[in-house]
Amino acid sequence: MSAAPPGAPALGPRVERPAPTIRVRHLSHRFGSLDVLRDVTFDVGPGEIFGFIGPNGAGKTTTIRVMATLLEPMAGRVEIDGVDVTIDPAAVRRSIGYMPDHAGVYERITVREYLEFFADAFRVPSLDVVDAVLELTDLGRIQDRIVATMSKGMKQRLQLGRILLHDPKVLILDEPASDLDPRARIEIRDLLLELRSLGKTIFLSSHILTELSDVCTSIGILEKGRLVVAGPIGEIAARLEAVRAAQAHGHAPPRNTAAPAGYAAPAAHVHHASPPYEPGAPPPGAAAGPLPAAAPPHGHGPHPPHAAAPAGGGQAAAYPALSPLLSRRKVKVRVLGEPEAAAYLLRGGPGIADVEIVAGAVHVGYIGNDVKIAEIVQHLVRSGIGVIGVEPERNELERIFLEVTQGEVQ
Ligand SMILES: Nc1ncnc2c1ncn2[C@@H]1O[C@H](COP(=O)(O)OP(=O)(O)OP(=O)(O)O)[C@@H](O)[C@H]1O
Ligand SMILES: [Mg+2]
Repeated sequence: MSAAPPGAPALGPRVERPAPTIRVRHLSHRFGSLDVLRDVTFDVGPGEIFGFIGPNGAGKTTTIRVMATLLEPMAGRVEIDGVDVTIDPAAVRRSIGYMPDHAGVYERITVREYLEFFADAFRVPSLDVVDAVLELTDLGRIQDRIVATMSKGMKQRLQLGRILLHDPKVLILDEPASDLDPRARIEIRDLLLELRSLGKTIFLSSHILTELSDVCTSIGILEKGRLVVAGPIGEIAARLEAVRAAQAHGHAPPRNTAAPAGYAAPAAHVHHASPPYEPGAPPPGAAAGPLPAAAPPHGHGPHPPHAAAPAGGGQAAAYPALSPLLSRRKVKVRVLGEPEAAAYLLRGGPGIADVEIVAGAVHVGYIGNDVKIAEIVQHLVRSGIGVIGVEPERNELERIFLEVTQGEVQ
């Protein structure tokens, strides 16, 4: 972060971020003619649990292998705790604990022997460390068990134990929870939270969103070797919300709302809002017609027409980088009586992308922000429909992922 030049206008209070523990800058790599990483740039702050998310083949393991000093990148640089991985790999190895994907464990020795062997190999001075790691990973009670007889989840804990022996500051874990059953996944997650409370910075990759959503403080989404977005989950969600709000009010958001410095701007692509208005006789119970073109919120005047502009048009055309942010969200609405009546009232309304009835609830896909949810509820209530439940889409991380990626793999 550079200081403002003399005479520069005051920009208000600055939020000072601590120096990043992991710093990745313009990282690029190819295998043969395949561009596997393309100009990847992001930071991971101290004490964060950073989820590196992307589909198979996105380049996660390649990035991780560079961070773990196992692969020299063709361009760009990576620093761990201020040390460049290509300049001083030995120092980097001392400060990281790296767990590869699909790593094997020695099978025919006991848990304690396994850890003692690696403590020795890492020249960890005291065997007390093994006791501490056994306790931390909750493997103490099975320390005399032969590794071969352990479950996959326990073997994964043992691997985590191995990389903790030299007390590294940074943990780099490639798909630590893949192939684990829900209980083992929860146990690994709890262990990661405990390690974070001990001051570790944790970088982990996954292609399964749900295993990360409640443990990560920040995420980076990688697609086809490009970083689509990165930052704290709350900040990314707030930026998406700001873009939606700006769109709903017909003006562009501040530039840094869409992509603040140091964060990857979302790639341009367009989600199309789908179904057209479906005419039909109102089902019994529908006192009024479909959602009017401009549902007046709280007695104010109607929104300008572009508030209902579908994704891909209007603002999206003017700000292509924002198009992915204008896509659909979902809300589940429960009503008294027949849900068909509510569905009829909503179908084809402004900003309503699709309406379906699932298990007695009306699932509404819409374009916009929370104001749109309020409008939906208001319209139903004014039309004589009793609304008894409104459940916005829950998983913030899944929503962000779907909004900013195009579903492409290489
Ligand atoms: N040593 C290699 N030689 C040639 N191509 C490779 C090599 N390693 C990886 N690749 C290719 O690079 C691309 C990215 O691979 P990478 O393993 O980094 O992806 P990933 O995001 O970790 O995927 P997964 O979720 O399957 O683990 C893939 O297309 C892969 O086939
Ligand atoms: Mg991988």
